[in-house]
Amino acid sequence: MALNIAIIPGDGTGPEVVREALKVLEVVAKLEDFPYTTESFDFGGDRYLATGSIIDDDDIANLRENFDTILLGAVGHPDVKPGILEKGLLLRLRFALDQYINLRPVKLYPGVDCPLKDKGPEDVDFDVIRENTEDLYCGAGGFLRKGTAEEIATQEMIATRFGVERCLRYAFEFCRSKKAEGEGKGLLTLVHKTNVLTFAADLWFRVFNETGETDYPDVQRDYNHVDAACMWFVKNPEYYDTIVVPNMFGDIITDLGAIIQGGMGIAAGGNINPDLGGTSMYESIGGSAPKYTGQGVINPLACIGALAMLLQNGGQKSAGDRVENAIKKTTPKLKSLAANQMGYSTSEVGDLVVEAL
Ligand code: IPM
Ligand code: MN
Repeated sequence: MALNIAIIPGDGTGPEVVREALKVLEVVAKLEDFPYTTESFDFGGDRYLATGSIIDDDDIANLRENFDTILLGAVGHPDVKPGILEKGLLLRLRFALDQYINLRPVKLYPGVDCPLKDKGPEDVDFDVIRENTEDLYCGAGGFLRKGTAEEIATQEMIATRFGVERCLRYAFEFCRSKKAEGEGKGLLTLVHKTNVLTFAADLWFRVFNETGETDYPDVQRDYNHVDAACMWFVKNPEYYDTIVVPNMFGDIITDLGAIIQGGMGIAAGGNINPDLGGTSMYESIGGSAPKYTGQGVINPLACIGALAMLLQNGGQKSAGDRVENAIKKTTPKLKSLAANQMGYSTSEVGDLVVEAL
């Protein structure tokens, strides 16, 4: 059966990086001999400015019912107020398609400059599993007496037993299978802030220990406060194997993770709905980089990395691994991973990956 991929190039440099990923997809599909289809959707800032609509219920239903997976370029348009597209498109898709896992590997590839002193690819290699549908991202909260001197604004951190447990179970399974494949030490670190967030963190901590003790005794449980984790990311990244973390803290620590793996030019992630028939969405973690739009200087490796993850998790593991290996052969050839400093254009980097397949 063909892999049906919805393509959302999005805004800014999104279309340029998606073009390179599709180039790689075409070649790897031939080499690995699997059928796929793509259909492109123009959701994003330009369409919003022209029509006033971002994405509607029918679009969501179409994505849910007719596509196995989504490849997303980038979201964010300089003429649209911050928050509108992020909430209206990216978060909308994550929530509506119940992509409750945000998987963000932090891997330093060969030849990539790492800002950490004396750290190399063997030191920076772990996975962050960010819960993706709850927490401060639910939009729970509101204003009271808005605009007055007595204004109150609240934003609530939501943790449900159901949402926390399904994320933790995914993380335990992930950590266990990594070890079985010889890739991790079977260490799962929960990152939260139990010393202050005594309600939400308490729920996470209890479910972590209960679930781990009952169903995953082979996985070693570990806990870090989020502030301390930031410190260890910089000092001892080699300590980590798999991290599980609520949405907001996960957002923050994965930017730190991205920079220690070489920056936004390379960091990719998956918004995953692991349930049977779920539609997942893969993206580069970076934004739409409007100032580089159309210049052919943006690094497409993050988007190509997102494609690798899409294939690895979408039933084409060997094709995905092949793309990832081609990225590893490409990184040492680039002068830098930063936009405009690669020593190659966007499409030349795409070509390098294709040659390395
Ligand atoms: C990310 C981004 C998004 C998030 C924004 C754009 C809504 O920062 O994917 O990490 O906060 O999740
Ligand atoms: Mn972020």
